[in-house]
Amino acid sequence: MKPAVVTVTGAAGQIGYAILPRIAHGDVFGPDRPVILKLLEIEPALKALEGVRMELEDCAPPLLQKIVCTADVDEGMGDADAVFLVGARPRGPGMERGDLLRANGPIFTGQGAAIARGAKKDVCVVVVGNPANTNCLIAYSSAKGLDPSRFTAMTRLDHDRALAQLARKAGVPVRAVANAFIWGNHSPTMVPDTEHGTIGCRPIAEVIGDAGWLHGDFVKTVQQRGKAIIDARGVSSAASAANAAISHMRSWVTGTAPGELQSMAVPSDGSYGVPAGLVSSFPVTCPGDGTYRIVQGLERSGWVVDKVAATVAELEDERKAVADLLK
Ligand code: NAD
Ligand code: LMR
Repeated sequence: MKPAVVTVTGAAGQIGYAILPRIAHGDVFGPDRPVILKLLEIEPALKALEGVRMELEDCAPPLLQKIVCTADVDEGMGDADAVFLVGARPRGPGMERGDLLRANGPIFTGQGAAIARGAKKDVCVVVVGNPANTNCLIAYSSAKGLDPSRFTAMTRLDHDRALAQLARKAGVPVRAVANAFIWGNHSPTMVPDTEHGTIGCRPIAEVIGDAGWLHGDFVKTVQQRGKAIIDARGVSSAASAANAAISHMRSWVTGTAPGELQSMAVPSDGSYGVPAGLVSSFPVTCPGDGTYRIVQGLERSGWVVDKVAATVAELEDERKAVADLLK
């Protein structure tokens, strides 16, 4: 079987450390497909990256065919089947993710252009570096000649956080919870939607029986979970972020199960009134051929419609703030 060429930027960082052994062990492309890992870093981090490379080698993953460590963006993106755009500054205590826009945005112009120059035409790109939605907008705008739908941003962590909170409240295992999902921006305005999901095959609202919690503490906990982790750890989420990035990519390349919805932030095609081109989280399904479909026709309460309008307005403000980076 042809090896999957997987590029990870920011590979010497915290998320890199958590994600690489799992990709090397086949958690994205499955237990039979060999993997070539391309690790892209900035020059000053290459020494640390060499340590990561040694550790990866020492995991002796049977599927791992080759590791390339580089600070050359074209070498990093060349021939990639899947790209994890992780490399970017994380926020610290007291910051919002949007505060990183001017610091991190420019990273994604050069990387988007390099992906268009060298990666496979059907490459799957997930942006993890914050603010992920608008960095993804910058990346696909710079990727001339590539279909914008090859670029996505990660809201799977928010999705998984929502499932975990619902399971905890209902006192059931997470596997009993299905099809809660996220609309909008990976920011405090994101909208966790429970109106179409189930717990043990019954509607979420019926099982939880507490609309105040579903519209109040639940939503706030999911929206603020990243901050709560930074407050507790002093640094931002890494193991859970790596796990979500792997799940995002695996769903995309290998497909969602029948009836399963996942959350992915994708360039809007105008669905649900989200202005075309904004990178917004939607409920999606993936047929398993490296494409995704935005789930159509969901009826939404006034509460969801209003909250989605607010998160979309924030995405529009972010787009204006980086207008100079959109080619
Ligand atoms: P980190 O500081 O530990 O690592 C970031 C790495 O990126 C560093 O090694 C740095 O050298 C590298 N880097 C910086 N600029 C680069 C460039 N131009 N090319 C290649 N590498 C570059 O940070 P982390 O904890 O790994 O987090 C990375 C990003 O992911 C942050 O922006 C963080 O906020 C974001 N994040 C997003 C989510 C999400 O749900 N979308 C979740 C967690 C973290
Ligand atoms: C998260 O949601 O954990 C990440 O986006 C990191 C952050 O800054 O909150």
